Amino acid sequence: MSSEAPSKVPRHIAVIMDGNGRWAKERGWPRIKGHEAGAESVKAVMKASRDAGVEIVTLYAFSVENWSRPEAEVSGLMNLLPRMLSKHENILHENETRLRAIGRLDQLPAKTRKELDRVMAATEKYTTRQLVLALSYGGRAELTDAVKAIAGKVQAGELKPDEISDQTLSDHLYAPDLPDPDLMIRTSGENRLSNFLLWQLSYAEFYFTPEFWPDFREESLHQAIAEYQRRQRRYGGVKSC
Ligand code: IPE
Ligand code: IPE
Ligand code: MG
Repeated sequence: MSSEAPSKVPRHIAVIMDGNGRWAKERGWPRIKGHEAGAESVKAVMKASRDAGVEIVTLYAFSVENWSRPEAEVSGLMNLLPRMLSKHENILHENETRLRAIGRLDQLPAKTRKELDRVMAATEKYTTRQLVLALSYGGRAELTDAVKAIAGKVQAGELKPDEISDQTLSDHLYAPDLPDPDLMIRTSGENRLSNFLLWQLSYAEFYFTPEFWPDFREESLHQAIAEYQRRQRRYGGVKSC
């Protein structure tokens, strides 16, 4: 891998959309109101990403750990997702954006899964832009699932242990064809990964902002991209002048 021109627009942006609950709490509102406001930020960020020329946006929408939240919040989120998908499906079509999902999708409630599958199938034809939702997603779960699949191939005699490389692991992730994210954004002032894309973020540039996700709109994304463009990616090599 070589270092790249700093002005380059990130091809793939991954976002940890955090702070919905605190945003709502500040207003004395229930947490679900924060998640609803967060959906508006998704729209704004999708539009700004398209205008900036970003091809792929991966959004951390629900982690494997988020199942431990109170039942009312979990079901609120699981109902919000299909509502938002049907309400905003037209935006995906207008922008020729393919919807995809990564995670342990079999754990989603049937209604959520059904609408997700429907919109994914309806947008499968688009190749210009992709919106990837990480749902019931965990980086460790993804790696565990990849290792299980690889072990199965070894056991079946389809693969020799010596033949396993970085690429083999990449090939067994949930969306193996996606390039690694160039830029990872986390909102709400938390400086951690919370089990997001552990393998894929190895060489991503990290951008942390104190803004809560419902406040993160077009201008915030422009700032994140501008900061990315000031970074120098070296991939372990030597700075080229
Ligand atoms: C992020 O906002 C959305 C999800 C995790 C689903 P939070 O719900 O984590 O909001 P805070 O971090 O509690 O403020
Ligand atoms: C990460 O946020 C998960 C999502 C944004 C979906 P959390 O709010 O769940 O993460 P922690 O608990 O602060 O690490
Ligand atoms: Mg949070």
